[in-house]
Amino acid sequence: MLTFLWKFTVTCCLLNYANPEDNRDIPAISKYFNTKGRYEEVNPYLTEDILAVNKSILQPPSAQCQEIQLTAIIRHGTRYPTTKNIKQMQQIYNIVLHNASGEQSWLREIQTQWTMWYTEDMDGRLVQKGVNDHKHLAVRLSKLFPSLISEEKLRGRFIKFITSSKHRCVNSTLSFKAGLTELWAITDQEFDYTVNDALMRFFDKCTRFVEEVENNSSAVAEVDKFKQGPEMRRVQEKIANRLGVPYSLITHDMTEAAFHLCAYEFAIKAVNSPWCQLFDEDDAQVMEYASDLREFWKRGYGHDINSKSSCMLFHDVFSRLNKAAGENKSGQQVTEAVTIQVGHADTLLPLLTLLGFFKDSDPLTSNNYASQTGRSFRTSRKLPYAANLALVLYDCGGGELRLQPLLNEKPVTFPGLTDQKDPMPLYQDVKDHYRELLRGCDFETVCQLFKHTAEV
Ligand SMILES: *[C@@H]1O[C@H](CO)[C@@H](O)[C@H](O)[C@H]1NC(C)=O
Ligand SMILES: *[C@@H]1O[C@H](CO)[C@@H](O)[C@H](O)[C@H]1NC(C)=O
Ligand SMILES: *[C@@H]1O[C@H](CO)[C@@H](O)[C@H](O)[C@H]1NC(C)=O
Ligand SMILES: *[C@@H]1O[C@H](CO)[C@@H](O)[C@H](O)[C@H]1NC(C)=O
Ligand SMILES: *[C@@H]1O[C@H](CO)[C@@H](O)[C@H](O)[C@H]1NC(C)=O
Ligand SMILES: *[C@@H]1O[C@H](CO)[C@@H](O)[C@H](O)[C@H]1NC(C)=O
Repeated sequence: MLTFLWKFTVTCCLLNYANPEDNRDIPAISKYFNTKGRYEEVNPYLTEDILAVNKSILQPPSAQCQEIQLTAIIRHGTRYPTTKNIKQMQQIYNIVLHNASGEQSWLREIQTQWTMWYTEDMDGRLVQKGVNDHKHLAVRLSKLFPSLISEEKLRGRFIKFITSSKHRCVNSTLSFKAGLTELWAITDQEFDYTVNDALMRFFDKCTRFVEEVENNSSAVAEVDKFKQGPEMRRVQEKIANRLGVPYSLITHDMTEAAFHLCAYEFAIKAVNSPWCQLFDEDDAQVMEYASDLREFWKRGYGHDINSKSSCMLFHDVFSRLNKAAGENKSGQQVTEAVTIQVGHADTLLPLLTLLGFFKDSDPLTSNNYASQTGRSFRTSRKLPYAANLALVLYDCGGGELRLQPLLNEKPVTFPGLTDQKDPMPLYQDVKDHYRELLRGCDFETVCQLFKHTAEV
């Protein structure tokens, strides 16, 4: 009888799980987690089959086209919160534990069952889910580009790995590699990687960026104004009401910490935690905007230097493509057929901005929340854990080279280079499109301090 009941329960929940539309395990607000969202939220088909690829998304203009080089710039996988975040989570937990009152079941659950299991030493490290993010991505990319990401190319050392020195990036790189070596059961060979912070953590190295933006609170004044503004105040009041605590206890930092708790519990443990009940969808959209606003002013279009700080990575990408094109043209084998570069959201966002992606007609500001609901600058949809930009160079015969960009495994078009009939542009047209940047965008010059003063 017990066995029967147990089986019945399992069947009920598996059936329930098969319907993602009303899945109780997915928080209703999971679409608004910014850079703390799961990759599966961006590509929902992966929740059914994490190794699924759809090869028909790649449509080279002729059957002759063959891929000759792939460069992928990939963000690290799912990670623990940073020490700063964990301290704030501890604070909001204490408030809920000692000051909140009410009969709601989720509140009871936090107070009596949930435990604060995050410890400060976790400090942004890669979690097991993050290891899997990269292993699975490696397998999917090898299915999508079997002639480039192949056992032969890996064994022949035509696949190069470059990473930021940060532990979560190194471990993501190791995980990506393990995804391939496990796929092909390679045990007799080791493959190394290069640490290169000048390329993958350029934002730390660009003095002008550090001085004018990173270390300058006026550079993010819009973010602070939004945090003090009416939309955010309303969210804080709603949360204080739900908890039955004085408004003064729920600061912006506490609201953010509760939002992070919901996001991390979901990303790391795949649970719909009681913390998520503190927010309705309207609240989550306000939280999402506050975070996008920050990314916009610190890494995106807010300041020109944000994207320019990625000049070195930009040139590096094109020089790899040029080298491959040159080798192919002169009858040699392409020596670096695949480049896997692992970095941060802070690596990808400035580069995507430099290339012109997700540019809206108006800047994101503290007072245009309502008119920005349809914005394309939305990190929740573009920069989850393991977000990636892949550039694939094709030889289409007769010296015709084409370049296909893919964002999170989906083909995209270079902004401003849209010819609907020709989704995979000629490599030469891409280079013409970015001519100004290819000629200039010199890291040393743009990152030098007081350049303008010196010129005057
Ligand atoms: C694969 O992609 C093509 C082109 O985008 C689309 O028409 C097709 O429905 C997709 N197939 C699956 C199984 O998702
Ligand atoms: C919150 O709870 C703590 C611990 O019980 C108490 O010291 C503090 O006064 C409370 N704060 C408010 C505003 O009620
Ligand atoms: C990285 O992986 C190694 C080996 O799997 C493990 O010992 C280490 O704790 C991991 N480090 C981080 C920062 O995740
Ligand atoms: C930026 O601020 C940090 C901490 O306040 C400081 O250590 C660093 O020297 C500053 N860097 C620059 C370039 O101003
Ligand atoms: C700080 O940012 C403001 C606003 O962008 C700018 O006017 C100012 O020059 C910056 N300060 C420094 C030291 O770069
Ligand atoms: C260039 O690449 C294409 C596609 O792989 C290949 O067919 C061609 O032989 C290559 N050219 C040379 C000279 O190797």
